[in-house]
Amino acid sequence: MSRKPIIAGNWKMNLLQSEAKALFEGIKSFTKDFTAQQLPTIVIAPVFTSLSAVSSEGCDCGCGCDKISIAGQNCHWEKSGAYTGEISVEMLADAGCSYVIIGHSERRQYFSETDEMINKKAKAILAGGLIPIICCGETLEQREAGVTDQHIATQIRAALNGLSEEEVAKSVIAYEPIWAIGTGKTCDSQEANRVIAMIRNVVKEVSSASAGDSIRILYGGSVKPSTIEEQMSQSDIDGALVGGASLKAESFNEIIANTMKVSV
Ligand code: 13P
Repeated sequence: MSRKPIIAGNWKMNLLQSEAKALFEGIKSFTKDFTAQQLPTIVIAPVFTSLSAVSSEGCDCGCGCDKISIAGQNCHWEKSGAYTGEISVEMLADAGCSYVIIGHSERRQYFSETDEMINKKAKAILAGGLIPIICCGETLEQREAGVTDQHIATQIRAALNGLSEEEVAKSVIAYEPIWAIGTGKTCDSQEANRVIAMIRNVVKEVSSASAGDSIRILYGGSVKPSTIEEQMSQSDIDGALVGGASLKAESFNEIIANTMKVSV
């Protein structure tokens, strides 16, 4: 089963509009030399205030606007209303997004997001015609206590609860061990592949074999140009969710280029 790789850049709370545009231009200067078929699926997730700036840059460029998809970093599950500080799926779509990252460990940790909230967000995103990138991952304490698989299986079962097979098949999961995020400590590729294969089995069990074969599951946590080839050579790793190394066009483009050496 061949799954098109995804290289996604999570810009987190970084970059002003002018900086976001410049980074976007830097990525386009790489993608313009390739067709969309030659490239992995490329997704960037700027802060909300830069979404429309970046997506409108894409529209009239004539060189790769269809090659870089835009993601929101979060959303609310309601369509509109009295939810100060929140943003709806329809609003993200209106600003040019086709993906939304949900359940990132930083949101779970600092903003108390629960599995139930993440499930509501996944349903709202799919109902709105966008694709959720559902994050999961264990803390160092959980890893050391030997409960990694159990913890992640619980997160995945909860996130996918009530989704149709078709919805699951088009969704994306990102396995991001919390101890590897922003630390420079990448998870060993074979171990990341083992956990991702375990996630795929959970997806097959809660949905269907074909949904499990179709869903794309990414690795995230200190991904760099020097780590991506080995990561992408694993059987079950379908791409990367990149933080720090996605903030510079040079390193993000190199991650894309190195991905193309081993897959696409
Ligand atoms: P780093 O690549 O900076 O470790 O961040 C990973 C991440 O959290 C992406 O969502």
